[in-house]
Amino acid sequence: MSAAVALPRQPHALRQRVVYLAASGQVGGAERCLLSLLAGLDRERFDPAVVVGSPGPLLEMLEGQGMAAQMLPMPMPLRRLSRSAAGSPRAGARATVSPLWQAPAYALRLQRELTRMQPEVIHSNGMKMHYFSAMLPTPGAALIWHLHDFPPGPDQGRESWPSRLLRRLASRPALAVANSEAVAAAYAARYPELRPKLRVIWNGVAPAAMRGGDGAAFRARHGIGSGALVFGMLAIFAPWKGQEVFLRAARQVLDQAPEVIARRLCFVLAGGDIYDTHGHGARRAELEQLSRQLALEAAVRFTGYTTDIAGAFAALDVAVHASTRPEPFGRTLIEAMAAGVPVIAARCGGVPEIVDHGIHGVLTAPGDPEALAQAMLALAHNPAQRSRLALAGRDRVERQFNQQAVGRQFESAYREAAAQWQH
Ligand code: GLC
Repeated sequence: MSAAVALPRQPHALRQRVVYLAASGQVGGAERCLLSLLAGLDRERFDPAVVVGSPGPLLEMLEGQGMAAQMLPMPMPLRRLSRSAAGSPRAGARATVSPLWQAPAYALRLQRELTRMQPEVIHSNGMKMHYFSAMLPTPGAALIWHLHDFPPGPDQGRESWPSRLLRRLASRPALAVANSEAVAAAYAARYPELRPKLRVIWNGVAPAAMRGGDGAAFRARHGIGSGALVFGMLAIFAPWKGQEVFLRAARQVLDQAPEVIARRLCFVLAGGDIYDTHGHGARRAELEQLSRQLALEAAVRFTGYTTDIAGAFAALDVAVHASTRPEPFGRTLIEAMAAGVPVIAARCGGVPEIVDHGIHGVLTAPGDPEALAQAMLALAHNPAQRSRLALAGRDRVERQFNQQAVGRQFESAYREAAAQWQH
């Protein structure tokens, strides 16, 4: 018997350990992307574990997927730090600078935890963790920044401190994976040192899981009739997601649609104030007030935040995306398309990489309720067009945004990053 054959099998040692860092335990697009990436990962070859920085449904959902997950709680002032607050004049020293004193201590705790976990690759899944993961070295581990957002914006015409800090840390990651070409281009333009490290990997979904939603149950839970014609937005209640644009467009659609269609119309806002960062928190109340001002109460449903994404999409006839700021990728679109729902989307950021106008959906000008209303009216009148778009959208997701294929792309990024570290 040769020595090699005599060695005991050590399946775990052969797997590459990847530790994922998620600052928020709430589940928005970046976290859904993480959940689906983990579901598509080859567990024979990769050994994933997740560190989450704040409470929320993410931990439980990860455990539900059989994932090793733990909390490393971030102090509240750090949790509340946000890019938007950093850029605003109101955000002075009190709101943004003082919490930074707590950052090195958290970075140190994270470093200790990572040293204990001994990953070969660290996958940082969001801006806050990009900073903490890069502040201190983790010998033996290659760092990957997964870029879900555009770079931090300027502050009163000058480069903001979050951007300057990111620039200083940009030499640390082995790779930076952007969720769209648009995001990669923005980073390349702003941080030339990141250019050779940038890769683009779009989000993926499991088409089968998105198709299995119970739309009838979702409608029943929210008092929506089975004969209703439902337009809906699934998005967190962040100011830039454009729920106001949707509500204003809804008013125009109700005013302009013929009575027989107007009677059936329903407008769903699925989402909630899930993040505890500055600039988030009181949107639902504002949106409900706007809905009252526009006399929309009878036609609008606020369903609250839901993790039943498949059920929510199955309840819609048309999914609307209305972001007023460039959307980094637009995961909600591929989820809707996978569920077989036609989409109307704001033409911005990464969205045109997902939807070809008139083929997989309809694109409209961002922040323009009038344009959105016209697109909604056109689809309200045309069920055949809705079906055509839905079919083409589903086909596109199956071919281009499949979770399994995305898993393979990340696996090769992990190998590439780890190889760089070893040389
Ligand atoms: C962030 C982005 C969104 C993207 C998601 C997944 O939530 O804002 O556009 O779809 O991450 O990458």
